[in-house]
Amino acid sequence: MRQTIIAGNWKMNLNLKQAKDLAEGIKSGLKNKQTKHKVLVYPSTIHIQAVYDILNGTDVAIGCQNIYPSKLAAFTGETSTDQLKDLNLKYVLIGHSERRQFLGESNEFLNQKIIYTLKEGMIPMYCIGETLEEREDNKTFDVLGKQLTVGLQNISKEDVKVLSIAYEPVWAIGTGKVATPEQAQEAHAFVRDKIKSIFNAEIAENMSILYGGSVKPDNVQSLMSMKDIDGGLVGGASQKSDSFLALL
Ligand code: 13P
Repeated sequence: MRQTIIAGNWKMNLNLKQAKDLAEGIKSGLKNKQTKHKVLVYPSTIHIQAVYDILNGTDVAIGCQNIYPSKLAAFTGETSTDQLKDLNLKYVLIGHSERRQFLGESNEFLNQKIIYTLKEGMIPMYCIGETLEEREDNKTFDVLGKQLTVGLQNISKEDVKVLSIAYEPVWAIGTGKVATPEQAQEAHAFVRDKIKSIFNAEIAENMSILYGGSVKPDNVQSLMSMKDIDGGLVGGASQKSDSFLALL
């Protein structure tokens, strides 16, 4: 059985008080409640400690939105997995489209980050997705294919088992324009098939593939009812405890 995951990407959106209030809201909302999904939040790096102090001991896992693929060294402004391990953090988001788009991160560089994260015994979620222009030019599958073949090159079958993928069409992020369940399913089926050809059928079958892009409490069910959609990577709706809890 594949694990279903609801992950909140807080991006660079909250100040310290808002981040702490959100963590408290999630904690109290989940108290004495069971959810069958794995629950994961990615706060801003500077807020990880404060969020950890609130959520440590709960079932909500905390991840970092990015890492630099190196042990402690002179990389100004970056974060090392060594620093995340101080807090026993395991989860890392890699390749979010905002980093690809605004910080010029390439598939090759993201591949290095994934390899490094796995070598460090941590758990990457690799984000992929096409822009509107690429979709309109019928390049969606070319783009996704390349993001997968290059991003996941030189990774062993054993190591890749912990990795999950988030398919986030760039045109659906923060726009309110959610992909239809059928559009998302078509892309997810392609991704799973590609994983099968890069690795094997068992790995493809067991890999959690999340959809991201304007996921809200009122559309999450129809998306997750599709056979290859195993959860959501959520921006806006994860940044208020009411809507995040409603998603869960
Ligand atoms: P929204 O849910 O705000 O569209 O953001 C999606 C996203 O980028 C999550 O990583």
